[in-house]
Amino acid sequence: MNFIPLSIPNIGRQEWELVRECLETGWVSSVGSFVSKFEKEFAKRVGATGAVATSSGTAALHVALKMAGVEAGDEVVLPSLTFIAPANAVRYLGGWPTFIDIDEDSLQMDPSKLASFLEKDCVRVNGVLTNRHTQRRVVGVLPVHVLGHPVDLDPIFSLAGEAGLFVVQDATESLASTYKGRMIGSEGVSCFSFNGNKLITTGGGGMITFQDKKMADRARYLTTTAKDDPVEFVHNEVGFNYRLTNVQAAMGVAQLGRLDEFLSRKKAIHQSYVEGVAELETCAMVGESSWAQSAFWLNTMRLTDPNTDRKVLHKLLKDVSIETRPLWQPLHMSPAHEGSWFEDCKVSEILYKQCLNLPSSTGLTDSDLSRVVSVVKGIFS
Ligand SMILES: Cc1ncc(COP(=O)(O)O)c(C=O)c1O
Repeated sequence: MNFIPLSIPNIGRQEWELVRECLETGWVSSVGSFVSKFEKEFAKRVGATGAVATSSGTAALHVALKMAGVEAGDEVVLPSLTFIAPANAVRYLGGWPTFIDIDEDSLQMDPSKLASFLEKDCVRVNGVLTNRHTQRRVVGVLPVHVLGHPVDLDPIFSLAGEAGLFVVQDATESLASTYKGRMIGSEGVSCFSFNGNKLITTGGGGMITFQDKKMADRARYLTTTAKDDPVEFVHNEVGFNYRLTNVQAAMGVAQLGRLDEFLSRKKAIHQSYVEGVAELETCAMVGESSWAQSAFWLNTMRLTDPNTDRKVLHKLLKDVSIETRPLWQPLHMSPAHEGSWFEDCKVSEILYKQCLNLPSSTGLTDSDLSRVVSVVKGIFS
């Protein structure tokens, strides 16, 4: 019985060739032509004015939040149901994540919950938007496009605009998805990740996209240790060593060239799951919202029967070498972020219990897919 993993890299001949070029020429570090090539091609692909390659998606978030002006004691509003990295990035700056609930169908930050938080839980103190429970300054919103699906952005942009808050998007899981026809990454500031399980990978890596060249230049400066004089090594600020290496960028260029191939495979995999489980009344695949064209990074199955335990399903699939993964412990429950303010996050808690991500690698064969579907069907029947 072959092992079917959740989401693994798809590496081809072009990746080998470009990485070999770096090794043979000695251009292996963060200076090299592939870094700027990857940035330019990535910016073009997502419709951004500038893109800055970083050592990880977390590093991208850290720098984007620093540039947005997060300071110690500030609050940034996040959805509770997400991977922990964006909340950690807020904490690296001494800030606090504030968790709000998600929308049940899309699994994304619920704009109506943001509206209610701003209206009921925030007050202006000397003109400064303040969480009246914690007395902390509320400075921004960090929507996270989880699992390949875009967040309903327009109401979030308008609420943030009215309240004077910045918006930094965590698009690490949703490269190539579109919102109302607009590419994720083509508006405002967005952060991407290229770790091993993402749609395209550089082993580890990230990108920040901007619509303003000056901001991109500043991010490039901050991620390159804020070096003001490269000969005398004069630094006027505390920067970061957060640049992507040329070897990683070479892989990124090759992977980006295959993005359409990966995207169409992800969509086909999703369609197979939808059709495969259509007759089952006990579960359903999470699909696209009316505003979305999803990249279906991971395929999420929701167990609609309250008597079905996703832990049991996970175990039964594991027993036959099929890897699945639940969503994340909702962050308002995370010991790592104790002390953060949170709203009622019931939907996150329910979906955390009901959802399981199914194998979604672009290299998944049709026979692997059929096996997953038939095992799932067998379990439910
Ligand atoms: C939602 C989310 N944010 C941030 C990250 C962090 O990216 P990285 O692992 O590249 O640091 C990830 C992925 O790992 C993620 O899924």
